[in-house]
Amino acid sequence: MTVVASGYERRKNELYETERWVTSAFCRHFPVYGINMWEPAAGNHLIVKELEAKGAIVTTSDIETYDVGHDFLFDFLSDREDYEVFDGIFTNPPFGKGNRMAVSFAEKALQRCGGLVGLVLTAKFDSGSSRRHLFRDNPRFAAKIVLTDRISWTLDGITGTEDHAIYVWTERPRLPRQPVILYAGRRDAAQGEAA
Ligand SMILES: C[S@@+](CC[C@H](N)C(=O)[O-])C[C@H]1O[C@@H](n2cnc3c(N)ncnc32)[C@H](O)[C@@H]1O
Repeated sequence: MTVVASGYERRKNELYETERWVTSAFCRHFPVYGINMWEPAAGNHLIVKELEAKGAIVTTSDIETYDVGHDFLFDFLSDREDYEVFDGIFTNPPFGKGNRMAVSFAEKALQRCGGLVGLVLTAKFDSGSSRRHLFRDNPRFAAKIVLTDRISWTLDGITGTEDHAIYVWTERPRLPRQPVILYAGRRDAAQGEAA
């Protein structure tokens, strides 16, 4: 998470929890009802609760247990191959220095799930020339949901200085297509309709 410069203390394993409106925004544009989803950096399950509220069947893992138990412990950045294949993955991964952990998380997520993959990342994450394989040159890249409000990582309404977006990949399309840009904010989530 790139929030240290904004005055936040860096937390162990980058445990910054995602306000529910963010997951709600993802679900409005990409409905998850009835989908078997994996939350592989589940933290204290804020994303999980919202995915379940929207009808997903969610399996949880993380590298560590905090206040809530996971289905299993799993270092998502390892080369472990003993995992179940799910229809979807949605998470807010640790970003790491220079976003390097986030890049690896995205690569692993696309490798481990051929279906719906959604990741909460920084707003300019798709700009890097070394990330073309995830975006410009990736036929699975389907959408960028620009978050028009900032996320409060302290869950108290106080926001940082960084903008974020949700990046979404789907199954490989049969015909060529261009990714779309969508927008979502706190109020859209509360209204329950796509903006
Ligand atoms: C930014 S927090 C997000 C937590 C939760 N997804 C949410 O949004 O509320 C990042 C999470 O990634 C987990 N994590 C860090 N490194 C990991 C790894 N290598 N494999 C799996 N989880 C990891 C941390 O323990 C933490 O729970």
